[in-house]
Amino acid sequence: EPTRLWGARFAGGPAEALARLSVSVQFDWRLAPYDLLASRAHARVLANAGLLDADELGKMLAALDDLESACAAGEFRPTVEDEDVHTALERGLLERLGSLGGKLRAGRSRNDQVATDLRLYLRDHARGVAVAVVELADALTEQAARNIDTPAPGMTHVQHAQPVSFGHWLLAHVQPLLRDLERLRDWDARTAISPLGSGALAGSSLPLDPAAVAKELGFSAPAPNSMDAVSDRDFVAEFLFTTALLGVHLSRLGEEVVLWTSTEFGWVELDDAFATGSSIMPQKKNADIAELARGKSGRLVGGLVAVLTMLKGLPLTYDRDMQEDKEPAFDAVDTLELLLPALAGMISTMTVRVDRLAAAAPVGFSLATEVADWLVRKGVPFRDAHEVTGKLVALCSARECELEDLTDDDLKTVSEHLDPSVREVLSVSSALAARTTPGSTGPGPVREQLATVQHKLDNW
Ligand code: ARG
Repeated sequence: EPTRLWGARFAGGPAEALARLSVSVQFDWRLAPYDLLASRAHARVLANAGLLDADELGKMLAALDDLESACAAGEFRPTVEDEDVHTALERGLLERLGSLGGKLRAGRSRNDQVATDLRLYLRDHARGVAVAVVELADALTEQAARNIDTPAPGMTHVQHAQPVSFGHWLLAHVQPLLRDLERLRDWDARTAISPLGSGALAGSSLPLDPAAVAKELGFSAPAPNSMDAVSDRDFVAEFLFTTALLGVHLSRLGEEVVLWTSTEFGWVELDDAFATGSSIMPQKKNADIAELARGKSGRLVGGLVAVLTMLKGLPLTYDRDMQEDKEPAFDAVDTLELLLPALAGMISTMTVRVDRLAAAAPVGFSLATEVADWLVRKGVPFRDAHEVTGKLVALCSARECELEDLTDDDLKTVSEHLDPSVREVLSVSSALAARTTPGSTGPGPVREQLATVQHKLDNW
């Protein structure tokens, strides 16, 4: 006779098709350690309420410990008959304690249990994800530190725009990761609310102590409303938004690495250990990690959409639809636990081709803005300066030469304001050195930014 948490009012067992649809233990079993933690806290509360005597509490806690070791060792496993993690663990408790095992369910429902377990699981794993984000950010920051003075052709519309420091560019990928870390931290503070004590939806007539349970489980407070506590999946949706946005950031980084490692760019070479080959083309070296970063953002975004869509229109309080919250949340955790270390390894071991970057930096008239700014400093309105510089570019394009190849006469012919001293701004290093305001790409501000970023990461 299978252990079911319900059934007395039913004439027979569930139809096979119902059981197959309803079962969640194949994916929610990973909540077992958290369910056991919550069970220990609940057992103590029952004892304090006089609903378990000291001897019963001792036996209950010992059985929960034993069950936990059996789960960890793989000796206790869910069976096909167990509907969900809560059912399986109650079976384990009954096997160890007989009818005493049935006392633990007093004042508790799977509705407050599952909401508690998932909060505990996600808070725990979000910390692991954050550590992995810090490691990737560290890898990017170390490469940035080595490349503060490496010039690169900064782009808009994937067209050469203005020269930048490649270190600045790499730090531009660290900044969003720092915001993701802050989002995870903010999310954790909002998620640190304990649903236990809410029961199915109305709280309990038994003298429970939700505040004590909350404290024991590391939550900051018990839920203020039992109906909200069992209905609320904001913490799942918000976690999935945070991981989806993180996934988008990793995808954008991935896309750039794919470009940078192409023959056409040739800015970066990946370490052999972090690149893959082709089964037919012996010369190939592919950036599969970067491509998987791009590709896996799809499932992270999809998980968010799935959960928001599932929640939309659900009446209060618990509805079985909510069982669908877990797989996207687990998948987000699993995906990031795989992806982040691979990306960190790829970034920290890649070789930056400083020569190629430096050669590319001035290509495509990327110093044209320097000429316009030089004219502005002479008092020419920017609108006119832009026109004049545009004419210089057109002249160079027609002659297939660079701005610095124009003669003094050429300059004078295009504008009376131009004289040979304009050539002083026609170098990548002067363009970079001229950028001294905070947040810009000059060596001074980039060093300041780097120090701030390193400080944040070291103290995360
Ligand atoms: N497996 C269920 C879930 O994930 C647990 C809660 C079930 N509660 C219920 N009343 N059927 O949501």
